[in-house]
Amino acid sequence: MSAIVAVVIEERAAADAIRLAQARQLAQQLALPLVGPAEVGTGLVLVVTAARLELRLLAADAPGPVYVDFVGGAMGHRRKFGGGRGQLIAKAVGVKKGVIPAVVDATAGLGRDAFVLANLGCRVTMLERSPVVGALLHDGLVRASSDEEAADVIERLSLQIGDARQVLEAERQGALADVVYLDPMFPQRDKSALVKKEMRLFKALLGSDPDAPALLEAALKAARKRVVVKRPRKAAPVDGPEPGLVFEGKSTRFDVYLCPKS
Ligand SMILES: C[S@@+](CC[C@H](N)C(=O)[O-])C[C@H]1O[C@@H](n2cnc3c(N)ncnc32)[C@H](O)[C@@H]1O
Repeated sequence: MSAIVAVVIEERAAADAIRLAQARQLAQQLALPLVGPAEVGTGLVLVVTAARLELRLLAADAPGPVYVDFVGGAMGHRRKFGGGRGQLIAKAVGVKKGVIPAVVDATAGLGRDAFVLANLGCRVTMLERSPVVGALLHDGLVRASSDEEAADVIERLSLQIGDARQVLEAERQGALADVVYLDPMFPQRDKSALVKKEMRLFKALLGSDPDAPALLEAALKAARKRVVVKRPRKAAPVDGPEPGLVFEGKSTRFDVYLCPKS
């Protein structure tokens, strides 16, 4: 696991006073140096381009940049053509006719699952403890909120940076959440090229999430109706109680813990 070494600002972005001010603010927030592209050799960096914020690994065999794109790419495609309530994730969180639960996504990551849930009509509070991942997410939200087609889905998403265990316990987020959704980092997930690329950088940045059992415990106390945990299909469930329902897909599984109080 390695830390980000700098915020890099590209030339075109540095020539734009607003982008430059945003880059300075980000570097200050993350307590990182703000440098030009020529000033950094190797390592993990956040790059402010004229268009967006990217996570990049500067190394000989590095994968491409990782950024949040709610408008184009895989998420845009899913918004336009993705299945509705028939999707496994919809069944797992309990979306059905006349029932659209409010969700706390306590491991927001790059916001893909949160976006799918918001696309199904759920209000989703995203919690993310990595300030770097949080910055990528924030950037994606800001860009997408000015896109005519995506804006109504984005409007259902909100973001809070912080450890979900503390947030769930301290702020009683559960009062807002019918469902708490968890997707902790796990070794060897989906093998698609995109996920592999993201996972390489994510693993380099974050490592894995060994405290998932404690997060599951906090989620079970907070959720009104259910906790949903996404796992690789063949992985063991997170340590804790047995899931009450299991939805199994080709590569992914959703373990569902029904709350007795529901
Ligand atoms: C596998 S990624 C989630 C991917 C996400 N479901 C998506 O669709 O993009 C796991 C993320 O959860 C975050 N995370 C893990 N434990 C957390 C906690 N206790 N509180 C907040 N965020 C947490 C990690 O920093 C990481 O960004």
